[in-house]
Amino acid sequence: MVTVDYWSISLKDLSETVTLYPLLSAEEKRRSLRFKFPELQQRFILGRGKLRQILGCYLNQNPQDLEFIYGEYGKPFVQNISFNFSHTKELAFCAVTKEISSLNLGIDIEIINRKTDPLALAKRFFDPVEFQYLQSQSLENQLTDFVRFWTAKEAYLKALGTGLQGGLDQVVIALTDQPSFQNSGAQDWTLKMFQPDAHHWGAIAVNTNSCEFRDCGEWIG
Ligand SMILES: CC(C)(COP(=O)(O)OP(=O)(O)OC[C@H]1O[C@@H](n2cnc3c(N)ncnc32)[C@H](O)[C@@H]1OP(=O)(O)O)[C@@H](O)C(=O)NCCC(=O)NCCS
Repeated sequence: MVTVDYWSISLKDLSETVTLYPLLSAEEKRRSLRFKFPELQQRFILGRGKLRQILGCYLNQNPQDLEFIYGEYGKPFVQNISFNFSHTKELAFCAVTKEISSLNLGIDIEIINRKTDPLALAKRFFDPVEFQYLQSQSLENQLTDFVRFWTAKEAYLKALGTGLQGGLDQVVIALTDQPSFQNSGAQDWTLKMFQPDAHHWGAIAVNTNSCEFRDCGEWIG
C-alpha cells in the first residue's frame, strides 16, 4: 500500500521570499527574474522554496542541494521521490511519496471562478458524457462540478507528465460519491478529491489502486 502525503503551502506572506530565495538554484533564480509582475515572481520563489524544504525533509537533504530534472513537457522530477506541485494565487499544494520513486503522481488545485461559463467550456473541452452530467445539474452545482472535473483531469495529465497537451477530453471522470477515472488505461489509477476551503477544489491522481492519502495540513517549514 502506497501512502501519498499532501501538504498545503501558503503563498500569502511575501516577506518570506527573503529566507527562501537562497534555497533556489541558479536556474530557478534566473527563471524568477523572467516574471513581469513582482507578486508573481515572489509567489514563484515562495512555492519553489517551500517545495524544496518539503522534499529536502523527506529525503533528509539540504533543500538547496536538490537537483530538479524536467520531462519533455516540463514536469519536474527529483531522484528517489515522487511528487507534484500545483498553485493558484495565494495557495499551493504538494503531493509526495517516497515509497515508489517511479510512481506517476499528479496534483491540481483550482479556484472556483464565478466568471466562467461551465457549460460552454465543458462542451468544448470535456467528454460528451461529462457535458451531459453538468447540464443536468443546478447552476450552482454546474460551477463547482466543472471545477472538480477540471482538477481531476488536470491531475491525471500532470501525473502522466503531458500536462494539458494530453487533452482534457482523453480523461473521463465519474463524479460519484467516490469519484473515479473511467477512461481506458486508468483501471489501476486512484483519484482523490479534496476541498481546501470554500473557494478551491483539488485532486490527486496516482497510477496504483493500492493507495491511501494523508492530509498533512499546512507546511510551516
Ligand atoms: C503543466 C500544466 C498543466 C500546469 O498548468 P498550471 O495551470 O500552471 O498548473 P499548476 O499550478 O497546477 O502546475 C504548475 C506546476 O506543475 C509542475 N509542472 C510543470 N509542468 C508539468 C507537467 N508537464 N506535468 C506535471 N507537472 C508539471 C511544476 O511544478 C509547476 O510549478 P512551477 O510553475 O512553479 O514550476 C501546463 O503548464 C501544461 O499543460 N504544460 C505542459 C505543456 C506545455 O505547454 N509546456 C510548455 C513548456 S515545455
